[in-house]
Amino acid sequence: MADFLVALEFLKGVPLPSSLLIFTHVLLFLQPGKAISVIGPGESMMAGIGEEVEFPCHLSQYLDVEHMEILWFRGQASDVVHLYQNGQELFGRQMVQFQNRTKLLTDEITTGSVILQLQGVAPSDEGPYGCRFLSSNFSGEAIWELEVAGLGSDPHISLEGYKEGGIQLRCSSTGWYPKPKAQWRDQQGRCLPPESEVIIQDVRGLFHLETSVVVRGRAHSNVSCCIQNPLLLQKKEFVIQIADAFLPGAFPWRSAFLGTLAIVSLLLVFLVALARACAQKQLRRRGKLTSQLEKLQMELDWRRAEGQAGVKRECSATSLHSEPVFPQPLNTP
Ligand SMILES: *[C@@H]1O[C@H](CO)[C@@H](O)[C@H](O)[C@H]1NC(C)=O
Ligand SMILES: *[C@@H]1O[C@H](CO)[C@@H](O)[C@H](O)[C@H]1NC(C)=O
Repeated sequence: MADFLVALEFLKGVPLPSSLLIFTHVLLFLQPGKAISVIGPGESMMAGIGEEVEFPCHLSQYLDVEHMEILWFRGQASDVVHLYQNGQELFGRQMVQFQNRTKLLTDEITTGSVILQLQGVAPSDEGPYGCRFLSSNFSGEAIWELEVAGLGSDPHISLEGYKEGGIQLRCSSTGWYPKPKAQWRDQQGRCLPPESEVIIQDVRGLFHLETSVVVRGRAHSNVSCCIQNPLLLQKKEFVIQIADAFLPGAFPWRSAFLGTLAIVSLLLVFLVALARACAQKQLRRRGKLTSQLEKLQMELDWRRAEGQAGVKRECSATSLHSEPVFPQPLNTP
């Protein structure tokens, strides 16, 4: 470094254009001493679900890499994402997961720069990646991490009905990655504790969320369901306004309810009284009937005893006719 400063001191007396020229020569002279390295897209990168992501790789020096082997891999070199060898792309060793999804851009291959495009990013693409440049006298690689994130659908709110002295609301949304966080808030921005929350992952690895809350009192008449992606720090919110009249805490609803309750109670009392009166009437009637029956029975017994002889007398003569067995009271004067 001291030598370099001395060199700059020495250039002070030289006119500007030629000093620049000499400076460049010094840099070019220093360059071969530095090791060539592969530079990738960075430590980590993020891609949206279903989007296209680019993996650019280049050498630290302008060198033609057209005749080098360039390999993009996932995790380890044997897991091939894309392979360029002997001036062409080879698909034989490509992982099934990446088939028909990669595209190599070689416009700047003569200056040491190539780009791999990966289409239709899915949660399963998440993980470590690398690119490796290989020739007879050079080998170098760069690695990075791919993160995948997806913002789900707009939340859908449904009014489920009255429950436990309040109104039950349900909020659902699909297509999130990674696992989202949901929150219910009232119009003052205060959190409302959820009644239930279910998060499930579909076959594509995307999360579906469903949460419900029971809203009580008029202070919550504006309620929002907010779903947030922890990686993107982005959220989707849906606000529903509930008219006071529907909330159980509101006065009109309560008085209507109490009124209905009073009418129902009165009706019940009336019905009970009616039933009791009916039962008593029936009881009285049954008592009357019993005494009438007893009277009849007594009369019957008396008549049976009385007509015993008559029956025996008339039996042979009257049994062929459908004459009453017992003598009828004489109605004729
Ligand atoms: C890729 O495309 C070819 C031709 O269109 C097709 O035969 C093959 O099944 C595809 N592979 C995958 C994994 O989709
Ligand atoms: C509820 O939200 C609506 C629209 O978001 C707004 O116009 C209204 O003023 C809010 N109501 C209250 C009581 O804050």
